[in-house]
Amino acid sequence: MNHKGDKGAGAPPRAGLGHTCAMTLPTPTLAGATATWNSRYASTDYLFGTEPNAWLCEHAAQLPPRARVLCVADGEGRNSVWLAQQGHQVEAFDVSERAVAKARALAQRAGVEVAFQVTDCDAYPWAPARFDAVVAIFVQFADPALRTRLFAHMAEALRPGGVLVLQGYTPRQLAYGTGGPPWVEHLYTRELLEAAFPGLQTLVLREYEAELHEGTGHHGRSALIGLVARASR
Ligand SMILES: C[S@@+](CC[C@H](N)C(=O)[O-])C[C@H]1O[C@@H](n2cnc3c(N)ncnc32)[C@H](O)[C@@H]1O
Repeated sequence: MNHKGDKGAGAPPRAGLGHTCAMTLPTPTLAGATATWNSRYASTDYLFGTEPNAWLCEHAAQLPPRARVLCVADGEGRNSVWLAQQGHQVEAFDVSERAVAKARALAQRAGVEVAFQVTDCDAYPWAPARFDAVVAIFVQFADPALRTRLFAHMAEALRPGGVLVLQGYTPRQLAYGTGGPPWVEHLYTRELLEAAFPGLQTLVLREYEAELHEGTGHHGRSALIGLVARASR
């Protein structure tokens, strides 16, 4: 199975990846995850490209003008920089300092400002009702326990009326192997996302397939799911 860019996203590679979905897996260390991602981002090429994610572009009209936006695990900055180019006030974080250095360079070349931080999602200084939008594109490094904490922080960070834009892979992606982690428990189903944000109103929840051309990291036929949801006003 060829899991390209975000193989084991957030976690160091685990042995026997093609056969491990049903196994109990060792908890990865943060240092290991950071080192793994830094090495994935070592090339001067942008692993997931420099163009914004299509699901984000399709739904960005849900954001108010000059929105205060948080991009979670933003990687090399393709989404945060594009949002800043649309006139939004963007903050972004990622655990990989190599990714954030490339994101800063991308922002500089684009002539926009993004407030970048290098931090693990558990250590990020989450504050309630701070953002008009939270963007989480392919943050499937998170295992179920981490995902529960991360999703709760993301929902809480939205102001009343604020919008969540999220995309990930479904378990069908395991057959494609064109990106994403190889562990089924990291992937999203419709039921999982319906239950994940009890305080938010779902605006769009779509399971679909598409050809992705996001650098070499996400490339080819892909089994995707996207969510757009709004915090109550
Ligand atoms: C598949 S990449 C997606 C990057 C970006 N969202 C995009 O769509 O281009 C997943 C990102 O999660 C980051 N990451 C992994 N574990 C993390 C953690 N514990 N806290 C914050 N970021 C993390 C990785 O460094 C990587 O940039």
